[in-house]
Amino acid sequence: MATVTVPETTALSKLREAVQHCRNCDLYKDADRAVFGEGPKKSPLMMVGETPGDQEDKKGHVFVGPAGRLLDEALIDAGIDRAGVYLTNAVKHFKFTREERGKRRLHKTPSRSEIVACQTWLERELAAVKPAVLVLLGAVAASSVMGPSFRVTQQRGEVLDWPDHDGVIVATVHPSAVLRADDREAAYAEFVADLRVAARALP
Ligand code: URA
Repeated sequence: MATVTVPETTALSKLREAVQHCRNCDLYKDADRAVFGEGPKKSPLMMVGETPGDQEDKKGHVFVGPAGRLLDEALIDAGIDRAGVYLTNAVKHFKFTREERGKRRLHKTPSRSEIVACQTWLERELAAVKPAVLVLLGAVAASSVMGPSFRVTQQRGEVLDWPDHDGVIVATVHPSAVLRADDREAAYAEFVADLRVAARALP
């Protein structure tokens, strides 16, 4: 597969343009576009999700579908202003299968090789924003930043060292896991509690 060199820049506008030409894995073939991170460049708080979903792929913005609405609500309840957060994903293209006989595009979890293929984009965003607190939303984001053996279930809601960086990490579940939880109220409360940990860790 032809690969694309990720520009050696911390100019987010240049990266946002360049990622549209990314061919470092096959996900670009079916997705409408790559969805790059959004938010203030110098935000002290950055959050990393998994991949854009159906709505994000159509609209070209991060966290604007059902998971994004839950995240918005949880951020408010945790006392965090979304406008001040740099929000991105570990993988920039939507991965999906088509419902049999239907038109709906059903989200699929990216593979380890797709996560690795997209890491350089995330590294550039981290170098540009240099957040003091990095929140990892779910296992894909955690695997990209902390490696595949990291377990969100064991370390969620703790303030963790961020190896080789001047900042800390807080891992939590992905907002779509809250949407799917049997006891959604309890899952939501735990999610908000984790986000509060991140808010308190801000300088
Ligand atoms: N899920 C994610 O991880 N990111 C988005 O942007 C939307 C849904």
